[in-house]
Amino acid sequence: MSNPFTPTFGVTPPLLVGRDAEISALNRALSAGPGDPARAIVCTGARGTGKTVLLNALEDTARDSGWAVVSVTAHPGLADELTQTVLPPLLAAHGVDEFTSHVTGASASVLGVGASVSRSVTERYPFTPSLRSELTDLATALGLRGKGVFISLDEVHRARRTDLEPLFHAVQHAFREGLPVAFAAAGLPAAVHAILNDDVLTFLRRAQRWTLGDLPEPLVAEALRGPIALAGRTISQAALDLAVETVHGYPFLIQVVGFELWSAQPDSAEISLRQARAAVPRAIDAAHRLVHDPALRDLSPGDRAFLTAMAVDPEGPTTVADIAERLNASRGHVNKYRARLIAAEVIEPSGRGQVDFALPFLRDYLRQTA
Ligand SMILES: Nc1ncnc2c1ncn2[C@@H]1O[C@H](COP(=O)(O)OP(=O)(O)OP(=O)(O)O)[C@@H](O)[C@H]1O
Ligand SMILES: [Mg+2]
Repeated sequence: MSNPFTPTFGVTPPLLVGRDAEISALNRALSAGPGDPARAIVCTGARGTGKTVLLNALEDTARDSGWAVVSVTAHPGLADELTQTVLPPLLAAHGVDEFTSHVTGASASVLGVGASVSRSVTERYPFTPSLRSELTDLATALGLRGKGVFISLDEVHRARRTDLEPLFHAVQHAFREGLPVAFAAAGLPAAVHAILNDDVLTFLRRAQRWTLGDLPEPLVAEALRGPIALAGRTISQAALDLAVETVHGYPFLIQVVGFELWSAQPDSAEISLRQARAAVPRAIDAAHRLVHDPALRDLSPGDRAFLTAMAVDPEGPTTVADIAERLNASRGHVNKYRARLIAAEVIEPSGRGQVDFALPFLRDYLRQTA
């Protein structure tokens, strides 16, 4: 019996829980037509809340509906990659030869659904394909068959706005032309807000904002028990309760805790409370290594000093006044870091003038490494 859990970023879990509403929203948007609000989605959440695997599930949804899927990660050079290596094979697969002909929006809309793609030969007007023309052609060709193009853009925080601009403009153009294009982007909240705030592009301004956070306990229990049962073992109620409590609703910990539960004694038929007790510290260690260490590396020394001052309290929220005193800094200075860390979803506001850690076991990590 092999371990069903997937404690690795970006890997689709054995059971994806709590995302039915999002998947249905996209399904509706694909069949509803260009005006549906869920044709543009911006998904944010802290590291490990399941942005990538949600995008993967949305891509599957689009593929199941017969849509062409463009799945890319933000990085400098994205526009060239799309124009030169991602879109051409899709255009070819859908019968559009972009080097000799260019589907015009007009001819396509006249022909309507089911007609073959009409081409206007452009030899007289030498035509250099651009990201915008390629997306237009692909969406037009698919639109003739009642389908469309779904674009998924992950890790928005890895690029600068200028790297993403050509893609945004191409999508905006397609939306304005009423072409069947749907778009979903995901990234860490602070960076995404910085990139997309005050947007001049209507499609981004109107995009649905999905924030991924903690999952409710019954769903966490289902995400643990389901794959264990499917793989042929059981788990005692007490062991499951301890595991659910350890997860704290944090999606990545479902897989880490599940993996350790399973491997404590893989040959036993039932995962017992004793095995669960052995699994918990190993899962917390894995969270330190895979989540906390990289999260802290992304932060500035000032951010880290703020967090270390919070971790002086062995549990519960910390007042901003205490943090200012511990850092020997002004309230204004401390409030600046408070806002940054809240935007990064590393901490969260907790009652008047208080903050608490947003990532489970981050406090323990800071106390160990301080
Ligand atoms: N809804 C869910 N149900 C069960 N497991 C999940 C769920 N969402 C995410 N996971 C698991 O959590 C882990 C992290 O998911 P994912 O890589 O999608 O996070 P992310 O938000 O993209 O993180 P990052 O910000 O580092 O890119 C994966 O192992 C994934 O299988
Ligand atoms: Mg990801």
